[in-house]
Amino acid sequence: MSPHAYVNDLSPGNNRVSPRALLSSSAARLSLDGDWRFRLATGLDDLTLDLGSPELDDSRWDTIAVPSCWQMIGRPDAPRYGAPAYTNIKFPFPVDPPFVPDENPTGEYRRTFELPEEFVADGRCLIRFEGVDSAFALWCNGVWIGDGKGSRLPTEFDLTHVVRPGINQVAVRVHQWSSGSYLEDQDMWWVSGIFRSVTILHRPSGGIDDVFVHADYDHEQGLGRLRIDAPAGTTLTCRELGLDRVDTAGSYDVAVDPWTAETPRLYSITVANDVEEVHLRAGFRTVEITDGQLLVNGVPILLQGVNRHEWHPLTGRTLSEETMRRDVELMKQHNINAVRTSHYPPDPRFLDLCDEYGLWVIDECDVETHGFVLNDWRNNPSDDPIWRDAYLDRIQRMVERDKNHPSVVFWSLGNEADTGANLAAMSAWALRRDPSRLIHYEGNRECDYVDVYSKMYDSLDFVEQVALRTDPPTSDPSNDARRRSLPYLLCEYAHAMGNGPGGLAEYQELFDTHPRLIGGFIWEWIDHGVVLRQDSGPNAGRLYYGYGGDFGEQVHDRNFIADGLVLPDRTPSPGLTEYAQVIAPVRITIDPAAGTIQVRSRLSFADTAHIGFRYVISDDGIEVAIGDVDVPVLAAGETATVSLPAAAVSPPRQRCERWIRLEAVLAGKTDWAPTGHRLAFGEAQLTQISVPQRPRTALPPPPVHRDSSPAGGPLTIGPATFDVRGRLVALFDHPVTLLPALWRATIDNDKYAGGQAVETVWEPLGLHRLQHRMAHLAVDDDHVSVVVRSGGAITDRMIDTTLVWTAVDDGIQLQTRFDLVGPWQGTIPRIGLQLAVPAAWDEMTWFGLGPQETYADTRSGAWTGRFTASIEQLQTPYTRPQENGQRSLVRRLELANDSEPVLRIDAEAPISVTYRPWSTDHLEAARHPVDLVPDHNNNWLHLDWAQHGVGSAACGPGVLPAHALTADQVVDAGFTVTFRSPHDH
Ligand code: GAL
Repeated sequence: MSPHAYVNDLSPGNNRVSPRALLSSSAARLSLDGDWRFRLATGLDDLTLDLGSPELDDSRWDTIAVPSCWQMIGRPDAPRYGAPAYTNIKFPFPVDPPFVPDENPTGEYRRTFELPEEFVADGRCLIRFEGVDSAFALWCNGVWIGDGKGSRLPTEFDLTHVVRPGINQVAVRVHQWSSGSYLEDQDMWWVSGIFRSVTILHRPSGGIDDVFVHADYDHEQGLGRLRIDAPAGTTLTCRELGLDRVDTAGSYDVAVDPWTAETPRLYSITVANDVEEVHLRAGFRTVEITDGQLLVNGVPILLQGVNRHEWHPLTGRTLSEETMRRDVELMKQHNINAVRTSHYPPDPRFLDLCDEYGLWVIDECDVETHGFVLNDWRNNPSDDPIWRDAYLDRIQRMVERDKNHPSVVFWSLGNEADTGANLAAMSAWALRRDPSRLIHYEGNRECDYVDVYSKMYDSLDFVEQVALRTDPPTSDPSNDARRRSLPYLLCEYAHAMGNGPGGLAEYQELFDTHPRLIGGFIWEWIDHGVVLRQDSGPNAGRLYYGYGGDFGEQVHDRNFIADGLVLPDRTPSPGLTEYAQVIAPVRITIDPAAGTIQVRSRLSFADTAHIGFRYVISDDGIEVAIGDVDVPVLAAGETATVSLPAAAVSPPRQRCERWIRLEAVLAGKTDWAPTGHRLAFGEAQLTQISVPQRPRTALPPPPVHRDSSPAGGPLTIGPATFDVRGRLVALFDHPVTLLPALWRATIDNDKYAGGQAVETVWEPLGLHRLQHRMAHLAVDDDHVSVVVRSGGAITDRMIDTTLVWTAVDDGIQLQTRFDLVGPWQGTIPRIGLQLAVPAAWDEMTWFGLGPQETYADTRSGAWTGRFTASIEQLQTPYTRPQENGQRSLVRRLELANDSEPVLRIDAEAPISVTYRPWSTDHLEAARHPVDLVPDHNNNWLHLDWAQHGVGSAACGPGVLPAHALTADQVVDAGFTVTFRSPHDH
């Protein structure tokens, strides 16, 4: 038999130690993290035959850091070992299970370590690998020890028979591809290596190899019940609970504060005997499904989660504890209360952090066979008995490792592996081993082996049907009653790819209304960008983040890997701020007419003692008063109504829009955010000035067109200068031009899946390459009135833009009107004007929604105010450049050159504004942010009557009708603005 048979065979591993919990123990341990000798072989024909031999001279080999992913080593400037490759569903090799190609990059690792006497004095000596991708074999001191698979799962081997005190030698051979790869087709980068820690463990004889803590909570009695599975003769100590070396065989009812994600109370416990002590943290909670609801400690909970892959742009799937902590802190700061560890068990330290900070966890097993779908699921391992052991092995290793984490409430069998007996067997095993948790798997549509009806990307309509139990029945009628009795979860929804996701508020509204809906998890947490450095052009030297296709992959899935709420460097994208407000722990509703503020707690367990409230009153966006509001401490779920602060009641001295915003902030510092951190806000206008969502024009429809005859010479009206055809050339002596614009640099949600408006409507209409004709010109002493007819090649569907310029006292007013010409249908990206202004105008101040970008369906996270930002700050650097940076409901803006205001624009009714140092065409053409170079002469200012929403169509529902810009809405479309020189004010 070939020495590498394990690569292609079905066994999950050979000679391994039975899986058990990862324990913090008094027994000796030795980390093997650090430098190892390394050689990358091209495949099975290029191996070092005596890899395991201590005599092998590896002194000329490279060194590599363990843990690491070898494809990430040396990035961005000197990558050494191949490149990451991205596919979503496709297997990057022929689908010939369980075989993989001979061209199988294989990392050969070697190192020595010095073993102290105590490791061999008695008992056993183990080696533990927390994660090796994807299959590996181990030698120690020249002896073959065993092999393993299951990349994101731990593997232990017994080295007792080969190790000795003093210097020992280990060698590991790691194959990028193996039979295991067929079970690991998650939508992510293919990267390989010993990517999590390696440790040598002393297991003293008579030691405590495994412990299972059962810490339930009886909410009726307020009692925790502590039971421990541990070897006979061990004792349990928990000082806080008054337990001092009691027998672990007993069961202890103790008064406790329960663990919840809102109140993550942990109790330190020690299990000990004469030879070993192990330290654990118990969190008391009981999880159950009752009446189609998910209850923890008897209370229904709503999951407001994210799907989290492990990713760092420099190190791939090897994460430092600092990075994991950053993820958890960012989640807590943004009101997220749940994580699905999509689609594999995370680094175990991540779950420690979830226990500590408080997050509900769906711990997902390392199983996904999605690529089989492209072959009609033929030979899918999930239903093939020859794969049964591999499936069972994976669930066992996950459950055994993670069983002591109170944060874990669901075991998930995996993702997108269709359905089959092996998954059902995993479920049965997990339930037997741990009846205290629930089983999740989205692929079990019949819900005959799961505890929750879980789906992805369902539309609002469908979700509502499920909520009301009017959804279609199961295929097998005998499953229907059971499925209808289960709660419903969107384990993925709202695809955060590029600009978006839009429409979060509507989903949340459903979740908040119907008890059967237990919430959802946004897809996904982070853009998995890979760091690259631009090698030429004006941005040479700058770092950026690569996606599929940037590494010479023959098959790949483009930027579908960049679909997170945080950018690759973990900068929150506007979608995260939006989500934070949508799922905020308190809802604030201000009723100026009644003079009240209503605060409703959305918490399930904690009261609001940690939340303070402060108000901000602003007149036309300028803050005029701030202060505290006394809101009584609310128990979970309670509502209080308080009066508006006195300052809000006195009317403003002059006519203006007066707004009040009430912010809910952290009253004191927490583990995850400083005092004053904003958790939520609510706002309302206090004055009676109406703010229409979309302006209406007062201009009449345009006159019948003749071709306009040029005026006698250039025209000047007030501060504006026009050419002989009536085209704007200057404002206040600054060169400024203007044209109608209908295009936006397509966002991912415009391009993919259900969002193909681009290919079916927008491109055929040539909206991205409009040609213009000055169709009408009329001039008198203080008016210039023009009609511009614009359209794309080939089609007779066009738009007439009427522009009426009128000199006013201190500037020039522009009235606009937009009329579609011909039989238009469907959506339009935007309708407005694009102005080219001097490049030196590098700052914008606006009164409208801010501070972040907003679109029709992403407005929850922004409030009404006056904001200033540099043109650079106005851009959101999405990993693949696309439309971004719009500010909505803008009543006034000011552009400044080096902080010196140069132009003011007042809108009669609010418009949308986008300001950028490059044109839409330039933005559309860019593949990465480094392709964007500010134009030499111009910045580009879009003043829009309206823009289409963003939706979630890259993988999910498109823009909801309420947020769409459709042709039939273009009736009396247009806005009025006045350009003024700021110096006049
Ligand atoms: C889901 C899948 C995820 C991801 C997402 C699209 O079907 O479970 O892994 O691929 O679609 O980004």
